[in-house]
Amino acid sequence: MKRRQIVAGNWKMNLNFQEGRDLASEIIRMIKPSNTLTVLCPPFVHLNHLSVLANGISNLEIGAQNCHQSSSGAFTGEVSAEMIKSVGANFVIIGHSERREYFNEDDELLAKKVDAVLANDLQPIFCCGEKLDVREAESHEALVQSQIEKGLFHLDSEAFAKVVIAYEPVWAIGTGRTASPEQAQEMHHFIRSLIAKKYGKSIASATSILYGGSCKPDNAVEIFSQPDVDGGLIGGAALKAKDFISILQSFPENL
Ligand code: PGA
Repeated sequence: MKRRQIVAGNWKMNLNFQEGRDLASEIIRMIKPSNTLTVLCPPFVHLNHLSVLANGISNLEIGAQNCHQSSSGAFTGEVSAEMIKSVGANFVIIGHSERREYFNEDDELLAKKVDAVLANDLQPIFCCGEKLDVREAESHEALVQSQIEKGLFHLDSEAFAKVVIAYEPVWAIGTGRTASPEQAQEMHHFIRSLIAKKYGKSIASATSILYGGSCKPDNAVEIFSQPDVDGGLIGGAALKAKDFISILQSFPENL
């Protein structure tokens, strides 16, 4: 089975309602029909409006950046996966390094969030990636392996088939320092081999693995040309329609 090319924009905590609406409208105006799936992941307050804007546009989906692991209850300030689904979104980013770092989200909690996402017929974009000291100690593969095993490998094959993985080396996020195409390929290949060992070759080859970390129009072409890189999770450059669209068009067959 051929896996999907995906470019997801992670807006993080940026853009008020009007700014978000304007950016999404501009992206929608510029987007060309292609096989690449585009996913816009704005803050919660934008989800409903953007889902309405995206309705009927092929290959455009909306996603959240986080959810709570429980379905409802006394969790002031939190948002459940069911609520996210109810406003028309279809994806949720889980385990972004900023959530792991600033909100103390550990592997055990992330496994529960993945379950909540899948139970509500949403797809998780599950993030993994090492910090600089781990890379320098050459433990990056072991760390990513443990993040993936603990966060995802409790799933059965049918559930795992809905997962999108984003490899985001923490030292490359928002720093302007990108992983080299070779470093990205090496890790993506490693992740795919872990999936193959656990779920078999056909699920492994159907899993989309995105790269994230200072992905920009001027480096996306090289990164997306790697055989195991199926697209990107884009932060800073997703806030500029022109840059985001240019990244979307950076797959070898679009050049
Ligand atoms: P960046 O962020 O593209 O700004 O490095 C990527 C991310 O954090 O998802």
